[in-house]
Amino acid sequence: MACFCCGSPKLADNEITAVVTAPITMAAPIKVVITGAAGQIAYSLLYQIASGAVFGPEQPVYLHLLDIAPMMGVLEGVVMELADCALPLLAGVLPTAKPEEAFKDVAAAFLVGAMPRKEGMERKDLLSANVRIFKEQGQALDKVARKDVKILVVGNPANTNALICSKYAPSIPKENFTAMTRLDQNRAQAQLAAKLGVPVQDVKNVIIWGNHSSTQFPDAANAVVKVGGDWKPVPAVVNDDDYLKTTFVTTVQKRGAAVIAARKLSSALSAAKAAADHMRDWFQGTGDRWVSMGVVSDGSYGTPREVVFSFPCTVSNGKWKIVEGLTISDFARQMLDNTGKELAEEKQDAMDVCKD
Ligand code: NAI
Repeated sequence: MACFCCGSPKLADNEITAVVTAPITMAAPIKVVITGAAGQIAYSLLYQIASGAVFGPEQPVYLHLLDIAPMMGVLEGVVMELADCALPLLAGVLPTAKPEEAFKDVAAAFLVGAMPRKEGMERKDLLSANVRIFKEQGQALDKVARKDVKILVVGNPANTNALICSKYAPSIPKENFTAMTRLDQNRAQAQLAAKLGVPVQDVKNVIIWGNHSSTQFPDAANAVVKVGGDWKPVPAVVNDDDYLKTTFVTTVQKRGAAVIAARKLSSALSAAKAAADHMRDWFQGTGDRWVSMGVVSDGSYGTPREVVFSFPCTVSNGKWKIVEGLTISDFARQMLDNTGKELAEEKQDAMDVCKD
């Protein structure tokens, strides 16, 4: 554990409490792990966590930073920069390449690190490489994390990675494993706000159903927009069903590819913001807004059970709940079935890898 007060590179866990710089009126620090900590999403995410944007302005954090051994030099630079931010809520940092060290006693886990897709790699090869990583990380979480740890999987294929992680961590409730579709939700919300010429916060309850992949279904059927002080249905205000079923859906589905084409790198700033949004809402609640979260499906809305499927959710007291009773049109049914089918196939492929 690198201590910011004395510069000692390694402190035992029982010593670290002595270097907490947060005022004594603050809560006890919680341990938070970020995997892929030397990567580009983590680079934007770490500041948000350490500055209080996720767990609140009164909650100190110890950051556990996991990456692979060859990245330890880069990670050292990240640790230096965190120290140089002089953040009052940052109680300490543990850079490590060992999952069991990284996951020890954590209350929140951002699983960002994953094997990137390399040229010529088939989807199945990527899945296979990542299933192995998330199996190992599930086993480590099971062994050493807090049993109430809240886990957000960002690394792709995020939904199936979350499922595998949960499978190998049977002592942690399934409800504690989620996959990130919040970036897709934020993209969808921003597209609708731009279309309607309103501030982004004046659009809510747009839903991402299914897989964080090109089969996802961005659904504006239940979204509402504030017009003249009142919330009105988005479909009625947009008054262009064709746009909502075609351009809107494909723009959101292909937004990640558009960012890569422009930036030559995948979304990182917006992915980090979405990860922070997801975890903040899970810890602090959603109020009167729905949020999309990949969660282990209970078969709601006729979706396949036991896959990690993105649903509209509300959160209170740290527990998420799927929004019930929405009407599913024939068009939506087709879209839900299509993305559900992909998830069921991914699950089967992942299970085959686990047998090896
Ligand atoms: P990056 O390549 O910049 O960083 C990934 C980091 O993970 C690297 O430092 C790498 O060394 C590390 N890593 C690899 N294997 C690891 C392991 N076994 N344990 C710990 N760390 C490991 O990638 P970036 O841009 O930060 O993206 C990370 C992941 O997030 C990718 O899988 C990407 O596809 C995914 N992603 C997901 C989004 C979503 O909406 N769910 C949106 C954007 C990206």
